[in-house]
Amino acid sequence: MKILANDGIDAAGKSILMEAGFDVVTDKIPQEELESRITDFDVIIVRSATKVTEKIIRASNLKLIARAGVGLDNIDLRTAGELGIPVVNTPNASSRSVAELVFAHAFSIARMLFLTNRIMPDFGKEQFKELKNTASAGFELTGKRMGIIGFGRIGQEVAKIAVGLGMEVLVYDYKSRSFDIIVELHEMYRQHNFKVTLKGQPLDVVLKTSDFISIHTPGSEEVIGELELSMMKKSAILLNCARGGVVNEKALNQAISDNKIAFAGVDVFENEPPVNDTLLKLKNTSLSPHIGASTAEAQLRVGIELAERIVAHLK
Ligand SMILES: NC(=O)c1ccc[n+]([C@@H]2O[C@H](COP(=O)([O-])OP(=O)(O)OC[C@H]3O[C@@H](n4cnc5c(N)ncnc54)[C@H](O)[C@@H]3O)[C@@H](O)[C@H]2O)c1
Repeated sequence: MKILANDGIDAAGKSILMEAGFDVVTDKIPQEELESRITDFDVIIVRSATKVTEKIIRASNLKLIARAGVGLDNIDLRTAGELGIPVVNTPNASSRSVAELVFAHAFSIARMLFLTNRIMPDFGKEQFKELKNTASAGFELTGKRMGIIGFGRIGQEVAKIAVGLGMEVLVYDYKSRSFDIIVELHEMYRQHNFKVTLKGQPLDVVLKTSDFISIHTPGSEEVIGELELSMMKKSAILLNCARGGVVNEKALNQAISDNKIAFAGVDVFENEPPVNDTLLKLKNTSLSPHIGASTAEAQLRVGIELAERIVAHLK
């Protein structure tokens, strides 16, 4: 059996697959050539870069499609389902890394590191004093309220870190499955002043009262648009390490430009690479190029978890 790991795979995962007798190819086939060259492979492994489109799936003899990561938005699930090709992913492996990136942005904003890092290489000598004044309006995360929208795997990791930092945590999630987890965690963190909005309670409480708002819902639905942004505090900091589409980028640009919210930490964009660079050029944004899951630890876990799933599936 031949496996194409078109966006690469961690060495440990590759070893597991090779030891199980699979031939693993890691030479990237350009997106436009995939349709004609996919017939050589039984399994395709992708991260977020390669799109497994309807045409590619229909042209293939694939027995399995594997996504090294969480979101399946780059795989045409409908066609895979129609042709009976299973799709596997690694939903748990990167949660901690994404949650830590949320706080990398939160701390960067709280102490204006995103700004000083931009300015100091060119003007750090001449404008040291002015820059010190600008960046001296920092604040601690301790005691602030972290509003979490979407309380699944990553949202829960964010809550754990936030509680550890002495933040007050407010969560909103509309699914009953998560409601059970909320109750569990509520019990667990009661002594830490962990607060939750219970099922059925309105989202606007989280939006109106949080100092930080971190989104962790799936990429399929816009959750934050103009209305939601208008409900936030003027000092609010919006963190999006989920998917570009969950926050309306145009509305976010406008809200920051008009000082309707104070800052945003953004890892994900409506188009990647971004087509429109307005958000990239805004002063009050801490930015990263979709690296939430890109840590050594997460990639190791992803590689191993995925390889084990593929072996279990095909052997
Ligand atoms: N930045 C990155 O590199 C990176 C890496 C991994 C995952 N992600 C993204 O992070 C997000 C969360 O991943 P996860 O593993 O925690 O997912 P998950 O499925 O475990 O959790 C999502 C939660 O959101 C809730 N939800 C769905 N729609 C909602 C809505 N409209 N309002 C409130 N709650 C809603 C669901 O009930 C669920 O509990 C996804 O968008 C995923 O693609 C980003």
